[in-house]
Amino acid sequence: MNPTPQRWWLLGYLRREWPTLGAGSCLMSLRALVLLALPWPMKAIIDNVIFQHPLERWLAPLLASPLRHRVLLLDELALGMLALGGLDALLVYAGNRVLLNAGQRVMFAIRFNLFAHLQRLPLAFHRNRRSGDLNLRMSEDVKQLQDFISSLGIDLLPHAVTVLGMAAVLLLLDWRYALLTLAAAPPLLIITIIFSSKLRHAVRQVRQHDGALNGIAQEILACVQVVQAFSRETHEEERFSAQADKSLRAGQAANRVQAQFGAAMGLAITGATALITWYGALRVLDGRLSAGELLVFLAYLRGFATPARQLAKTGRVSSRALIAMERIGECLAEQSPLTEPEGVLAPPHPVRRISLRQVGFGYQPGQNVLRDISFDLMAGRMVALAGATGSGKTTIVSLVPRFHDPSSGAVLFDGVDSRALPLSYVRQQVALVPQEPALFQATIWENIAYGRLGAGREDALGAARDAGLQPLLDRLPEGIDTMVAERGGGLSGGQRQCVAIARALLSTAPVVILDEPTSSLDAATERQLSAAIARLCRQRAVLIIAHRLSTIIQADEILLLEQGRITERGPHRDLMKRQGAYAQLWTMLHGAHGAGLPQAANQ
Ligand SMILES: Nc1ncnc2c1ncn2[C@@H]1O[C@H](COP(=O)(O)OP(=O)(O)O)[C@@H](O)[C@H]1O
Ligand SMILES: [Mg+2]
Repeated sequence: MNPTPQRWWLLGYLRREWPTLGAGSCLMSLRALVLLALPWPMKAIIDNVIFQHPLERWLAPLLASPLRHRVLLLDELALGMLALGGLDALLVYAGNRVLLNAGQRVMFAIRFNLFAHLQRLPLAFHRNRRSGDLNLRMSEDVKQLQDFISSLGIDLLPHAVTVLGMAAVLLLLDWRYALLTLAAAPPLLIITIIFSSKLRHAVRQVRQHDGALNGIAQEILACVQVVQAFSRETHEEERFSAQADKSLRAGQAANRVQAQFGAAMGLAITGATALITWYGALRVLDGRLSAGELLVFLAYLRGFATPARQLAKTGRVSSRALIAMERIGECLAEQSPLTEPEGVLAPPHPVRRISLRQVGFGYQPGQNVLRDISFDLMAGRMVALAGATGSGKTTIVSLVPRFHDPSSGAVLFDGVDSRALPLSYVRQQVALVPQEPALFQATIWENIAYGRLGAGREDALGAARDAGLQPLLDRLPEGIDTMVAERGGGLSGGQRQCVAIARALLSTAPVVILDEPTSSLDAATERQLSAAIARLCRQRAVLIIAHRLSTIIQADEILLLEQGRITERGPHRDLMKRQGAYAQLWTMLHGAHGAGLPQAANQ
């Protein structure tokens, strides 16, 4: 993936939420002020109620005098504490709600954009990635960011404000003592910085291993039939547990750092507390500080400790969030090589002719899977590709809807390079039946209707009938309303192909591409489909990969592919007359004169 992951992309999302984030932060800052006021009634209880010092001048008109109405003053102060406590609870509640909701909205926005981005990335990207790891990025990593955004507002901000306020108040009370107290802050900060960076490293390892583990699990479950057929459960368990082990060890390493962090923080805090209490008590004995003021100091100190611990927690959350930002940023920064020209309008009409001109292609640079491929597709014509497995047929087909770009030559849509057209236009011109058709977890008719936006059950039924699939559907328990399980489960390979073909027939795309569409069909169904394809050819261009006589024989042009090159081309009869490689292949597959066909064996 991208070697320089970006972190700042998150700011854009935060900016969009600024009113709520701002409101939440205001509420939380107000709460910090309440926390600041909280120890003061207690100070007055000690100094004015218990030791009966006179009230400060500005308080005297507001409260009962301790000298005459001690109990009344105590009641007033206790009520004051209660009121502050209530206000605190209210602010916590409102602030939490606002910030948590904002965090959630940011999370969903990121998740949506990540999903939208990922599903537009080219097939080459998805083939090289483990979908389990991508899933983890979309779920867990995004969740980490949500935690981070909420905790920034809920924990870090109010505590930072509290600390600043406390420092100011303490300095006013007794600056010497205050400086000593504040001297505890830098060591805490240093501890946080050191451990945060360690923790980040550890968390990165954890996420990587978790991603790999997710990937393995997803892959094994997707291939569960092969695993069971070859009794490889134990082997897969070993593979899984080997990765799980790495994951566990990485997790333990992260836990160790986290535990060290907590312990170091705890130690520093108690040490500082002991020192400060000792010195404060000395100052009370010297008469430079009242007992109540010491209480304020100690209460604030506890107040310091909370944000310090919070800092540890925030350090943990933010370490995870930084890694999540990296991992999501990597995906978001991934650019599709299938660039689109800006501001180019799609042609107003469907394409009439697609031409491949001296196309060369390799999946890796320097590799040549296709060389010098040229042919034309136009309405009313059927072009067939034949050739051994691995000769490059599927690859040619994938260049037409621009799943890949040719490395030399060009694919022209009505004479315009497909790279100069909007990608959506290019894709809309082509209906594809892939070699391994994928179905959604939905009814059969819904799967067929996917071929055309807005198509309904009746349209799907019509397409299935056109393709001659009615007898096949009748054999299914609920016909066209049968539910397809995940990844097309519950249907035979042939049935899956039929659904995919009906889907392509339903689409209005002017070009239909079929990649070995009949390889799993019985001879009778295949013949019906061939007839449907021939009908299709009257209005549309068809590019078909097939081995069987009944399908291929009606092609206007057959291209024989050998190791990525077209070695022979022409209609069936001409190619047979040439007695070349095509004729040889043909004889090998179907017997000397195609006798007994089209019941030929599956390829
Ligand atoms: N995604 C891919 N990455 C790298 N190589 C590939 C990929 N897909 C196919 N190939 C290679 O390209 C060649 C042609 O494959 P393909 O077009 O699928 O053949 P066919 O459809 O004729 O059986 C094969 O050698 C195959 O190994
Ligand atoms: Mg193929």
